[in-house]
Amino acid sequence: VAGVQAADFASLSFGGVAFHVVNEKPAEGFYFQFFPEACEVRLQRAGTRDKGLGVDFEKDFEHYKAQKLSPHKELLARAVNLDDHKKICDLTMGLAQDAGKLAYWGAEVTAVERDPVVAALVKNALERAKNVEKLKTFTIHFGEMRDFLAQPQTVDAYYLDPMFSHKRSALPKKEMQYLADLVEAPDDEEYRAPMELIRKTGRRLVVKRPKLAGPLCGLEPRHTLEGKMIRFDVY
Ligand SMILES: C[S@@+](CC[C@H](N)C(=O)[O-])C[C@H]1O[C@@H](n2cnc3c(N)ncnc32)[C@H](O)[C@@H]1O
Repeated sequence: VAGVQAADFASLSFGGVAFHVVNEKPAEGFYFQFFPEACEVRLQRAGTRDKGLGVDFEKDFEHYKAQKLSPHKELLARAVNLDDHKKICDLTMGLAQDAGKLAYWGAEVTAVERDPVVAALVKNALERAKNVEKLKTFTIHFGEMRDFLAQPQTVDAYYLDPMFSHKRSALPKKEMQYLADLVEAPDDEEYRAPMELIRKTGRRLVVKRPKLAGPLCGLEPRHTLEGKMIRFDVY
């Protein structure tokens, strides 16, 4: 887009990763496309014609309102127990679908994400939704969850949704496919130390799992809430 400068993206850079403006679409890999009217950044995959990937909190919130998405019915809200836990830390933000829902239900969300491209997409979405009251306390912490957890915490409950490393029969949604190609699938074992650390604090921890998988790192939850494809293990 004529007139777009690298400085327009400076605020999206995390962890020393800078984005450069190019005039030609790259032939391979991923790139950001900037839509100046909405100040929207979308992630595109080279060589495809789909609309790419973006995050839009306002659209999502309208959708939740139309759906009458209730914290008393939804498994995620019930697993976190939002009535008693207002400050939630989502340790694996991703595209903030879950974190956005928690904010929609009134939680004060701190979301941790180590991938700079994913973090930038959500940051751009937050900047576009800066007038949305429920998102005013939503903060992104760029980096590793272990570094976040090493800091003093004022969190009521933690949420963990690691990339599913188990093969699932249904094809993942486009979002999950982009994420799976962009972000390296972690080894479940990397979550053992953070889980044990949180358990020592006595704070609530909710882990999202594929319904048929065992508990993360073999650590038995206190109880479980089951959905059709997934379940939430509560520690
Ligand atoms: C399955 S996605 C989470 C999806 C998210 N619940 C949503 O609703 O969009 C997992 C995300 O967590 C991030 N992640 C995984 N391990 C992490 C770690 N140790 N520290 C910080 N971020 C991590 C990955 O980069 C990825 O974006």
